[in-house]
Amino acid sequence: MIVASITAQQATDATAFEISDLLETGHVVYFPQCPFPLPDEEDQRFLRDDLASGLRLKNISYHPEADSVRGLDSDGEDKDRAYRILTDHRRSVERFLNRTIPSLTDGWVMGTSSFRPVEEKGRDLKPHASNELIHFDAGAYGATNGDRILRFFVNLNPTMDRVWTSKGDFPLVYGKYGEQAGIRKRDPGPRYLEKGPLDHARTGLLRLIAMMGLPMATVLDSSPYDRIMRKFHNFMKDTPAFQQDPEDFEEMRFRPFSAWMVLTDMVSHAAISGQHALVTTGLIPLENCHHPEMAPVNILKNG
Ligand SMILES: [Fe+2]
Repeated sequence: MIVASITAQQATDATAFEISDLLETGHVVYFPQCPFPLPDEEDQRFLRDDLASGLRLKNISYHPEADSVRGLDSDGEDKDRAYRILTDHRRSVERFLNRTIPSLTDGWVMGTSSFRPVEEKGRDLKPHASNELIHFDAGAYGATNGDRILRFFVNLNPTMDRVWTSKGDFPLVYGKYGEQAGIRKRDPGPRYLEKGPLDHARTGLLRLIAMMGLPMATVLDSSPYDRIMRKFHNFMKDTPAFQQDPEDFEEMRFRPFSAWMVLTDMVSHAAISGQHALVTTGLIPLENCHHPEMAPVNILKNG
């Protein structure tokens, strides 16, 4: 079973690595009731009902590097209110994670906090952008270089479950499909997946541009590891035989006002239905991992 269901009390009582080990070994840690207070009813109604008309992007996102909210048509009251709700929620997530998985969040980088207002089912997006196809996440705001992608979700829909599917964790899917996807390297040398001169030059240039006032430039960064994960991500979404193979298939239902967290580079996933979710993303340093041998970058290095 991929889902490990725990209560807020169990999270409080957990021993040092109990919850982080669940994440690192490929579980979705599920809280049937979100373990901290959610935006109040009025703010939730505002997110669900009032923001839809002013949508410019598929998500409304707080971007920490710019300290601003993107995704809405106009500036003004709605944007200020979305900013307040998203940053309040983000602080709640941060406090909870620092308390619950401190070994992982030590020195982590928090990325965006978003509200996803669109129904996932039948969005008719291009395959590589489709959430309805099972995949591992590849890259988060540029290059991860092997660091881990942690996402914390809340279902803010008062009546409908959010539904995910999965076909297992990275070691399992890589073991079965790595060869076919062309990402398995026979005899990887000791320097396999290290950045080359071009990668270093790109990273340096993008950092410079970011320092000069365009912080979003770093999303263009890349690394050998991130390119391989992107290739696997695309293979999975482009391969109907993989998507349709019933082996290892699991469906997960996340009920209204529940929360769940997962390393999305570790657990394959698709969101097949559901509307109105809060999603907070963080980048966990690889060296924080208690089970580094389970990290995709080290599995790839082993060939
Ligand atoms: Fe994803």
